Amino acid sequence: MSFNIDKIRKDFPILNQKIYGKPLIYLDNAATTQKPQVVIDKISELYSKKNSNIHRGVHFLSNVATEEYENSRKIIRKFINAKSTNEIIFTKGTTDAINLIVSSFGEKYIKSGDEIIVTEMEHHSNLVPWQMLCERKNAKLKFIPLADNGELKIDELEKLISPKTKLIAFVHISNSLGTINPVKKIIEKAHKYNIPVLIDGAQAIQHKKTDVRELDCDFYVFSGHKMYGPNGVGVLYGKEEWLEKLPPYQYGGEMVKTVSIKKTYFNELPFKFEAGTPNYIDATALGTAIEYIENIGFEQIKKHEHELLKYATEKLTQIKGIKFYGESPDKSSVVSFLLKGIHHYDTGMILDKLGIAVRTGTHCSEPAMKRFNIDGTVRASFAMYNKKEEIDSLFDGLQKVIQMFS
Ligand code: ALA
Repeated sequence: MSFNIDKIRKDFPILNQKIYGKPLIYLDNAATTQKPQVVIDKISELYSKKNSNIHRGVHFLSNVATEEYENSRKIIRKFINAKSTNEIIFTKGTTDAINLIVSSFGEKYIKSGDEIIVTEMEHHSNLVPWQMLCERKNAKLKFIPLADNGELKIDELEKLISPKTKLIAFVHISNSLGTINPVKKIIEKAHKYNIPVLIDGAQAIQHKKTDVRELDCDFYVFSGHKMYGPNGVGVLYGKEEWLEKLPPYQYGGEMVKTVSIKKTYFNELPFKFEAGTPNYIDATALGTAIEYIENIGFEQIKKHEHELLKYATEKLTQIKGIKFYGESPDKSSVVSFLLKGIHHYDTGMILDKLGIAVRTGTHCSEPAMKRFNIDGTVRASFAMYNKKEEIDSLFDGLQKVIQMFS
């Protein structure tokens, strides 16, 4: 399929509207992406025609809903090239998936004096849960530091690893800086010492092909809503051998095989980690979102988003007093910046009045902001449906901001 931006934009009904009388320019895609009509239609079809609790009924509707849900698991398995659907666990999102591993892996394998390595660029969701675990267990959290251009100082990793290192958890692509981390290199190093690795793929899964077997990561997590899918659903990929060994995260219905008043036997994978009625509607529609992405194709999406990044960087560089944060040559379509003497919040507020949606603040990555001695940035993040004209409008908007403050 050829990449037709006008056609793609028509697939996203929300884009065709005015905000304060101005055409919406949505540049907050790292926070959440908009949904194509096929995903909206799928949710509506499921609620209007196929709604029933899954894995529980002998009746027609329950079987249909179960089939749809399990089919989505198959789509996801293929999408990330996992070995088996047993390795695909539906969660509420990335944060929920990380908490699952922190709780389950942490409970079983982390003891006093152990060490866990994360990075200085983590989103709070891949930092706070580990910090809390370390407090509970009297373990130590270590950080791979950030270089001035927003890349990780990978050479420091060797020094951080010790016989007490039990896990390395880090982000595939930074949400605040856009840096694409050398994931494979870090995994190879960790595995040399038999240390398992968790990758936070929330900002990567929608931009590039992810192959968990090629990466050889032990755990990979992502959210539906950042990949043109529904909110409230996400995925934990875990190697089967790990998931078999880990205890359940939550207890209740569905995750059990048999229950007596004396003892409970847990269900097999993947159900062992899916206690309670899952969000089967959104999990099913996530499969539809993936089919939509695959129809367009990652090569085309990557090429288009890379062009947007290049165009935005070149264009915004012309603005007097702009400073970028995150200047790695290996970046995804995120531009984080500050205008000299103007607070990020003020910039964001004025852009909003012009119909331009950007995110401002720390982007839930306070340690990264502290590393650069700032309290936040303005962040424009692009998706497959953005176009160069929108970057021109951002440029004009920023000139207005500067005029208003001069
Ligand atoms: N993690 C999301 C962001 O970066 C919310 O904006």
